[in-house]
Amino acid sequence: MRTKLLDAANPADIAETARILCAGGLAAIPTETVYGLAANALKPAAVHKIFAAKGRPGDNPLIVHIAEVAALDVLCADVPDTARLLARRFWPGPLTMVLPRAPVVPDAVTAGLSSVAVRFPANPAARAVLEASVLFWAAPSANRSGSPSPTTAAHVLHDLDGRVDAVLDGGPCDWGVESTVVDLTAAPPRLLRPGGITLEQLREALGPVAVDPAVVGELAPEQAPRAPGMKYRHYAPRAPVMILKGSPDKASAYVHAQKKRACVLCFDEELPFFEPALSYGALADPRSLMRGLVDALRRADALGCDSIYARCPEGDAYAAVQNRLYKAAGFRVTDV
Ligand code: TXA
Ligand code: MG
Repeated sequence: MRTKLLDAANPADIAETARILCAGGLAAIPTETVYGLAANALKPAAVHKIFAAKGRPGDNPLIVHIAEVAALDVLCADVPDTARLLARRFWPGPLTMVLPRAPVVPDAVTAGLSSVAVRFPANPAARAVLEASVLFWAAPSANRSGSPSPTTAAHVLHDLDGRVDAVLDGGPCDWGVESTVVDLTAAPPRLLRPGGITLEQLREALGPVAVDPAVVGELAPEQAPRAPGMKYRHYAPRAPVMILKGSPDKASAYVHAQKKRACVLCFDEELPFFEPALSYGALADPRSLMRGLVDALRRADALGCDSIYARCPEGDAYAAVQNRLYKAAGFRVTDV
């Protein structure tokens, strides 16, 4: 199929994107986190096309995107007070809630789970398409399964040109990492994926919040993660990634000793220590690291290096970046 490139600044293109979705097609749409690959969530045939275009395993459920909080009462069998509270504080925005599923949500979306993940995105183009199409969309990140999530229309086209009906270009995404996922069917609520809304913010709103083991470490093969997507190697460029811990000068000496065509992914503050190196943002500005990470992973691949060494920031403010980097590295770490 020919993929149409549409412009989010053009109202006719917003209407065209909505028409494609209403007709059961696939459109990649900008959100404030990453680009999503959207289809009508209530139409299983449309939802199946998402899995085919991405090469996504069928046991990995999708997030349903909504344009008003009242949609929770349609999609969920029960809406706990905790959900209403989080919606008031953080929606529209980069937070996904896992809630008990109503029968109207097809198995294709939830992979047969008794819960459904719901998010109300803030990006104006995403909201305009949602409102124009009067739909709920199922939308995972708009990348081929296993690749880093796309934060520009160019990233989407690189992965999905010819496999989707349209890409709506809304420029680079504000956050650059996928939404925080919190499971409200668990007691206490459980963080399944770190993102723009931090654990600290969730705890401030809800009291105790547990952290799923898949967030911080590699699961043993027999462990079933609560968010099925967390078990897959993710966010990964083609070249193998290794996280390098330790002082920047020791890390630099280590990389030189490897005699590989290596590239180092680091922060602005450490650029003087490494060559060749790509910075993904400034340590002094945690959001810049979130915004820059996937583009840097994709640029490192484009350089054609045969291995990537990554410097990972330490501290709670960087939880979302740490989680994505450890997954990209398959949890391989060397302490120099
Ligand atoms: O920011 C985002 O969340 C982006 C944009 C497009 O909204 N979407 C996104 O979707 O990252 P995806 O499919 O790449 O990641 C969804 C994650 C997966 O890890 C999936 O397993 C988990 O959410 N998930 C979905 N439904 C779930 C459910 N019912 N229970 C537990 N985890 C669920
Ligand atoms: Mg994804």
